[in-house]
Parts: sequence; C-alpha cells; structure tokens
Amino acid sequence: MSAPARDPPIDRDGTRLDQPHVRWQVRVRGLDKRFGTNHVLDAVDLDIERGKVNVVIGASGAGKSVLIKHFMCLLRPDRGSVWVDGTDVFSLSPKPLSTFRRKFGLVFQFSALFDSLTVEENCAFPLKEHTAKSRSEIRDIVADRLGALGLHDTQKKYPGELSGGMRKRVGLARALVLEPEILIFDEPTTGLDPLATRNVDEMILAAVDRYKVTSVVISHDMASVFRIADRIAMIQNRTILAAGTVAEIQDSREPYLFEFIRTSGVAAAFGAADAAHDGQGVR
Ligand SMILES: Nc1ncnc2c1ncn2[C@@H]1O[C@H](COP(=O)(O)OP(=O)(O)O)[C@@H](O)[C@H]1O
Ligand SMILES: [Mg+2]
Repeated sequence: MSAPARDPPIDRDGTRLDQPHVRWQVRVRGLDKRFGTNHVLDAVDLDIERGKVNVVIGASGAGKSVLIKHFMCLLRPDRGSVWVDGTDVFSLSPKPLSTFRRKFGLVFQFSALFDSLTVEENCAFPLKEHTAKSRSEIRDIVADRLGALGLHDTQKKYPGELSGGMRKRVGLARALVLEPEILIFDEPTTGLDPLATRNVDEMILAAVDRYKVTSVVISHDMASVFRIADRIAMIQNRTILAAGTVAEIQDSREPYLFEFIRTSGVAAAFGAADAAHDGQGVR
C-alpha cells in the first residue's frame, strides 16, 4: 500500500488544501468534536470567504463557539482539519502556533477591557505586549483605530464611563491594533438594545470596509444577521444544515432554517431578542 498521508491534500474542487485559496481563507473539513459523551460537531465542512462577513447562526448550545474556537486551535478536534491560508492548524507546534494566532482578532461577547486603564491605554496594551513599536508609533496606531470607529472623544475615559455599545467598539479597536486578517465576533450584540445592536453592526461593517478583514460573526439576532452578512452558515444537529450567500439562505426551503429565521425575525421586530440577558458568560 502507498502512504496516503504523504499525498498532498486535495479538496473536492480539485484545489490543494495546503495552499492558500483565492476565495476561501478558512476551510474546515470533516471536523468532529466530542466532550465526553456530548457529541457537539459531526463531520462539519465550512468555508469562510476572504474579506467578507461570514455569519454563523444556530440555536443556543448548537456548537457555534466550539466550531470557531477550532479556527485558531483554542480547541482540538477528535477528527478533521482546519486549513487557514494553506496552513494545517492542528499540525502547528507551540511556537508557530502562537505566531499563527496573530492572524486573528477576537472580539469577545463581553468586551473584557481593563477597567483600571483608559480607552487609549486599553488599545495600546496589545502593542506594548507583542511589538517593539515606539510610543509615538503606538499613539498613532491607536488614534487611527479609535478614529475609524468614531471613538476620538473617549481616549481618556475609563470603560466604566462608557455604554455597553461603546465598550464593544473599544474592544474592536483594541483587536484591530495588531492588524488581524480575520476578526472573530462571538455574539457581539447579545445583551444590547436594538439601537446599540445597530451601532455594533455598523461598526463591524466599517471595520471590514476600512481594514479589508475577513469577519466571522456568531449571532442569533436575525435582523442583525441580514444587515451585516455576506454569507450565512447554520449549525443544527451537530452539523452545517445550510451555508451560502444571503440570497441562497433566504431562498432555502430547509424547514428548520425557515422556522429559525421566521421566529427570530418576529422576536427582533418586537425588540425582545436577547434584551433580557446581558450574557457575561465568556467562553
Ligand atoms: N470546554 C468545554 N467543555 C465541555 N463541554 C463544552 C465546552 N465548551 C462547550 N461545551 C459544550 O458544547 C456544546 C456547544 O457549546 P457552544 O459551542 O458554546 O454553543 P453555542 O452554539 O451556544 O455557542 C454545549 O453542549 C456545551 O455545553
Ligand atoms: Mg456561543
């Protein structure tokens, strides 16, 4: 027998998984993940499009956060692979892995800012930690990111003095200082009222437009999803039930997907979606 493991990995479309793909920046193939007897992901395939807003939807507990944690190897699967620009994520040893992870910016559900630092100091922190940039370079980068997100006036303020929506903006500005290629937002609008949600949506679109980043957004607020998404993938029953452009998803006749969109849409229209719980459960 030959040794199949040494053959270059070829995808269904004939392209090589171990080389960057012009369109798909992240390619998930056959991902399987269990926690003990809890089988969370089963043979998941997913493509994330470069420079676009890719939204992952699904019920609470469906496995959305677990799935995206695999992208940067915060979790390891039981089976399957994730390729990011041709890199086999789970093959990386610790040092290349930590370099690789700098491709990503994480914007947490709960902004996780340092309360005792000003907005400016919060945003400067990753640059001081991870780069050898001078004070004036750092000041310029931070000013650029804060300016791009409409936060000029908040530089000297402390997170506690800002609204929830503003804190999310600061969280994004901080994620952007290290020039990530891929931004990950795990339920960025959970706990925000409809106006603040719209504000965060605009912020995501502004960041994608200005910095040309690839975005992966987990959301269950369908009004928000349809405002920001280029592509939508839905997880249900351990796997991807449907994935495609917004038009393809809207046209889907998949009953569960149809029902999910319909019921979420009604809730959002009444302003009830998520307003009740300010999810602090960062995972
Ligand atoms: N670190 C973990 N250890 C054990 N079980 C986990 C862990 N993270 C998530 N799970 C379980 O995996 C399932 C999917 O969780 P998650 O991806 O967080 O759902 P969601 O779609 O709401 O983001 C849940 O049953 C959750 O309890
Ligand atoms: Mg989650």
